[in-house]
Amino acid sequence: MYNLVQETAKILKIAHSPVVLTGAGVSKESGVPTFRDALEGLWEQYDPQELATPEAYQRNPKLVWDWYEFRRKQVARVKPNAGHLALVDIEKHCGTLPIITQNVDHLHEQAGSSDVIHLHGNIQNHKCFYNCEGNPTPIDISTLDYDENDGPPTCPYCHRKSVRVDVVWFGEMLPEAMIRRAYTLSGAADVMIVIGTSGLVTPAANLPRVAKKAGAIVIEVNPDHTPISSIADIRLAGASGEMLPQLVAALSP
Ligand code: OAD
Repeated sequence: MYNLVQETAKILKIAHSPVVLTGAGVSKESGVPTFRDALEGLWEQYDPQELATPEAYQRNPKLVWDWYEFRRKQVARVKPNAGHLALVDIEKHCGTLPIITQNVDHLHEQAGSSDVIHLHGNIQNHKCFYNCEGNPTPIDISTLDYDENDGPPTCPYCHRKSVRVDVVWFGEMLPEAMIRRAYTLSGAADVMIVIGTSGLVTPAANLPRVAKKAGAIVIEVNPDHTPISSIADIRLAGASGEMLPQLVAALSP
């Protein structure tokens, strides 16, 4: 593995437009379960893909609201791990390192990464389910007076119990500006490091192929094989919290 890390460091040292794509695996070592990890405790009976949809919210707004509040509070308690911090060091070495993330936590920003593109939104942000004041209608729940046990708060604009988390649900469109920039960055990259994603969900899962087609070297950091493994030029088969600090060490003079 040491040689592969050295090989990756040599590639990064001469990279002009490296880009990173991350998934839930990069946050796992901070204590945030990956999207397809078994949910714990009272939520283990639910399938995330059954909860993360507009239909689920309309069917049972309190259940969906409570699930995201559980995850929001879980994310608020955790800190960036060695993998997040290593990406900040790699950005310093390379001068630029845009991070396209599928994660809805804000651990890349907390670690100090300066250019984070959230494809699936951010669990700290909320909006009106009906976007009653325009798409989106952002709502700061810290300004609302609501009963935590009474399901979604009332929208301050349309006065319906319609506040929801501002993340992308299954069947919803991704934020147009974010996905457009992600494709542009991927098509212009000379190196793409793909970290901690199962590569199952498009359009994020298309980005490594866009980069590859444009001539980029694709490096995958993941203990498991994924559909992206077949196009990776280098696979660092291990946890991001172990592999990325080794990469930083190999980059240091
Ligand atoms: P997944 O849970 O699908 O995949 C996590 C990946 O991280 C798996 O391939 C694991 O093998 C890997 N992994 C686990 N621990 C790791 C570690 N310590 N270091 C590196 N990799 C590790 O999560 P995502 O691929 O992010 O979208 O899921 C993509 C999207 O699927 C989510 O953003 C979500 C879901 O649909 C929406 O909700 C719109």
